[in-house]
Amino acid sequence: MGRIHRLSQSVVNRIAAGEVVERPASVLRELLDNALDAGASRIDVTLEQGGIGLVRVVDNGGGIAADELPLAVAAHATSKLATADDLDHINTFGFRGEALASIGEVARLVICSRRPEDAAGSRLEVDGGLLGDVLPEGCAAGTTVEVHQLFAKVPARRSFLRTASTEWSHASDVFTRAALAHPQVAFSLVHGSRRAHDLPAVDAWADRIEGIFGRSVAQRLIAVAGQDGDVRVSGFIGRPEADMASPRLQHLLVRGRPIRDRSLAHAIQEAYRGTMLTGRHPMVFLRIDLPADQEDVNVHPAKSEVRFREPSRLYRLLLSAARTALLDSDLSTALKPPPVFGGGATSGTASVPAFRPFDAPVRPAETPPPASWQPSFSLPASSPSSPPAPATAELPAASPPVDAPVAPPQPSHMPPREFAVQMHDRYLVVQTADAIEVIDQHALHERLLFEKLRTQVAGNGLEIQGMLVPEPVELGAAEAALLLEHAEPLATAGVTIAPFSGSTVLVSSKPALAADTPAAVIVREILERLEAAASPSTEAIVEEVLHSLACRAAIKAGDRLSQAEVDTLVRDRHLAASSHCPHGRPTTLTLTSRELDRQFRRT
Ligand SMILES: Nc1ncnc2c1ncn2[C@@H]1O[C@H](COP(=O)(O)OP(=O)(O)OP(=O)(O)O)[C@@H](O)[C@H]1O
Ligand SMILES: [Mg+2]
Repeated sequence: MGRIHRLSQSVVNRIAAGEVVERPASVLRELLDNALDAGASRIDVTLEQGGIGLVRVVDNGGGIAADELPLAVAAHATSKLATADDLDHINTFGFRGEALASIGEVARLVICSRRPEDAAGSRLEVDGGLLGDVLPEGCAAGTTVEVHQLFAKVPARRSFLRTASTEWSHASDVFTRAALAHPQVAFSLVHGSRRAHDLPAVDAWADRIEGIFGRSVAQRLIAVAGQDGDVRVSGFIGRPEADMASPRLQHLLVRGRPIRDRSLAHAIQEAYRGTMLTGRHPMVFLRIDLPADQEDVNVHPAKSEVRFREPSRLYRLLLSAARTALLDSDLSTALKPPPVFGGGATSGTASVPAFRPFDAPVRPAETPPPASWQPSFSLPASSPSSPPAPATAELPAASPPVDAPVAPPQPSHMPPREFAVQMHDRYLVVQTADAIEVIDQHALHERLLFEKLRTQVAGNGLEIQGMLVPEPVELGAAEAALLLEHAEPLATAGVTIAPFSGSTVLVSSKPALAADTPAAVIVREILERLEAAASPSTEAIVEEVLHSLACRAAIKAGDRLSQAEVDTLVRDRHLAASSHCPHGRPTTLTLTSRELDRQFRRT
């Protein structure tokens, strides 16, 4: 071993850089933090090769004075902290004064900046730790930072980088999280020649969520709000039925900073207990606001974890806020006005789903319900000659005295009419000869569709829609590889994919049942399922695809059905081979007359 000596500042910086800069996504996170700390109201990001070739962040914030540029790229130099005490209440994203120095050590870093109050701007370049001169430069107010060829001169680090498309998926995730946390800031993201996001500044968080993730996500959210003293939680969580195979859409912000926290994620999962199957994950968009001294952000090199002073208090708050939101939303569904039956009043309304019941050629939504159907729960007459039950609560004159023993009803000589009614827009209640059945409309319809598809696949008769022009779907490299690895079973299930350029795949057919669903949506859903399964067999993959098609095409809980739709579904329930949906949930609960008599102590 050699003699002990002090490391040069350059070596120290490079070691520190290893902690701060892991990949293009970490560079982007640091530059976005800086732009936000500078008070920018607009931030434009350009990436090339997933950020390996270039990360450029342009902001319109406060800028850096020309004489301070060398300090900005020096290690342990910051404008955000003055004393050690400041570490206890950090109100900026940066505080170490290390990011730019670290980046300049492992890439070519170019900064151009002008403070709004200055007439001219200036520019500074750092390449592999070597500082250039500060030069005058004409530029708009604000700062532009470019990071070229990350790790080009550090081959050991460069070899750890993944393909451009994998790096792109990490970087775009960082962008998404920052844009999500700051709806009042306009953001754009360009990758190569493609504009991936263009997000105007908005006031409502829901608008930013929709801007990033689309309407289909925004429409399936429930608002959450809760407070415990000076700690507040607000935002949105997904409806239980909008569950996901992975926690990809879980976003927690603590004082505007995107973080990961297993305990808080657990609190939210716990709130869904009983409404979501194990292994599924809710969507989460929640912000937590608390005084700065209640958290410590100085615990993770990439600042993606924080430590809380009172973690259990936060856990309880999140659990109760999420649970209250779920219960309230259930209540609001239950309080919807009851369906208007008769006269076809529900036919063709916007809330009626496109519903193609099993083997039914006509769309029942357009078929008026049978005129004979009566929307009442009056029991069928106990004998053919007895009058119908009175419509009002008035008791018939001949009613027995209240304290007289109640005679058990005489068995009917006519088979009781089987009829069904929809309840709470999600259950069908059916009276059969000797029982009451409660059917989960989504689970049953999904089961029926699934079995139909499976029968078609087994007989090589799956209805497939070939596309005239194959649809390209852009994926991460790992995702494309995973998908192509299973191309054969996917083709059996009607989804034909082939490699295209880079990590884009071409989809040239899809099952007819999903004719209206964009190929990208089908592919994403399949990927979710493939990623969740460890090493699925061919049959398992085909089944997974059929499950996902059936689930997507089936009517949902919350869909109001016409009486004809209810009748068709109830009639077809006998075609289902199993009384469970493909996920294992029961489709039907049966309450027999005997059980009811026993419960009411009639026997
Ligand atoms: N986009 C920007 N606009 C204005 N000033 C900036 C910008 N980027 C960096 N600076 C200035 O350069 C300094 C150094 O930035 P750097 O990111 O290296 O450290 P930091 O943000 O202070 O702390 P951290 O290492 O935790 O990010 C900042 O303190 C800030 O004064
Ligand atoms: Mg910083």
